Amino acid sequence: MAIDPNFDQNREVVDEHEGHDVWGPVEEPEKLGIHGTHVAVDFDICDADGVCIEDCPVDVFEWVETPDHPTSEKKADPANETQCIDCMLCVDVCPVDAIDVDSTRA
Ligand code: F3S
Ligand code: F3S
Ligand code: ZN
Repeated sequence: MAIDPNFDQNREVVDEHEGHDVWGPVEEPEKLGIHGTHVAVDFDICDADGVCIEDCPVDVFEWVETPDHPTSEKKADPANETQCIDCMLCVDVCPVDAIDVDSTRA
């Protein structure tokens, strides 16, 4: 299942992390929600493939440890989402469609 592109209408902001929003529901450690708004990563879908971190030309993503999450024990966090230049590479390369980027979302 891919990230919901309308998550900002279907979910609520429940937390803040490294300067970006976290969209719930969150029930740690097994449910972590979506991190980021312009560059959004569904932590419950991300399986730590890492190609987004390798390919993003402006280094938007950083690993965060997520011990005991059922899908993977680290996630690509959009720590620098304000640097995104909307190249859409991450959206294209993520093998599990965990990322959605929309410059109209801020
Ligand atoms: Fe990087 Fe993805 Fe933006 S690859 S520049 S975060 S669209
Ligand atoms: Fe995760 Fe997809 Fe990146 S699986 S680490 S968001 S390429
Ligand atoms: Zn985060």
